[in-house]
Amino acid sequence: MSDLISTKGLTKRFGGLVAVDGVELRIQEGQVAGVMGPNGSGKTTLFNMLSGLFRPSDGQILFQGKDITHLAPHKRVEMGMARTFQLVSVFDSLTAWENLVLSTIRFRKGQQTFRNLYFAPAQKRTILTSCLEALEMVGLTEQSEKPTSELSYGEKRMLEIGIALSLKPRLLLLDEPLAGLSDHEISEVLDLIDRVKKNFTLVIIEHKISKIVDLVETLTVINLGRIICEGDPEQVLCEPSVRECYWGKETDTCSM
Ligand SMILES: Nc1ncnc2c1ncn2[C@@H]1O[C@H](COP(=O)(O)OP(=O)(O)OP(=O)(O)O)[C@@H](O)[C@H]1O
Ligand SMILES: [Mg+2]
Repeated sequence: MSDLISTKGLTKRFGGLVAVDGVELRIQEGQVAGVMGPNGSGKTTLFNMLSGLFRPSDGQILFQGKDITHLAPHKRVEMGMARTFQLVSVFDSLTAWENLVLSTIRFRKGQQTFRNLYFAPAQKRTILTSCLEALEMVGLTEQSEKPTSELSYGEKRMLEIGIALSLKPRLLLLDEPLAGLSDHEISEVLDLIDRVKKNFTLVIIEHKISKIVDLVETLTVINLGRIICEGDPEQVLCEPSVRECYWGKETDTCSM
């Protein structure tokens, strides 16, 4: 299997702080990959560089074999990359439906203005169909006309994932999709991911490792901006260095 996205020596410095330090990441097409690491270890910064929000200080990002290191974020979306944010990022003043349609119009290739949409009914149908499908997939059809401010945090999270899905990505990056959710909402998000994961390559940052250990095929652990371990999730979680950096002390048994 070939790499869908990979990085070479990817580095981000904020003044004297090296937040991401020479990361060599390889994610194969179709893979479900997990990324974990202590708070402040550089996970979100890595996603911000992959998605184009942060310009790397050093290194290279390849997506579908092309060097995208300096490509604008919206161009990466057009190429098939979508992401969600650690803190849910949707427009509170719009309805769920408006949030979906707006994002889908904005990011569909060659479909970046309402004017284009107005003159292209066929594209309009395609966009509306994929928005309706996404709404249904995330279970928000009934809520579609509500202002997003009236949705629960879990529903907003689902909407954000729905927006990403409506773009029909080839690569989906989820930054802590379970953060701040109740146990019930966590199982809803996990069910959704399980249902749709076959359609794309997925990279998921998550602290709640026990929740995703059965979902992910590989696990990468980052500490102090560097990859310290990667591979089979069960084996990675049993590595003394991982246990030490994550749980603060070495343990004799591996019970994850
Ligand atoms: N825009 C920024 N400007 C300056 N420093 C930043 C910026 N973004 C992140 N950092 C710093 O870079 C380091 C890595 O932060 P990052 O958010 O990537 O960590 P993380 O692994 O996602 O942590 P968490 O698990 O808490 O979300 C931290 O020390 C953070 O304070
Ligand atoms: Mg983070």
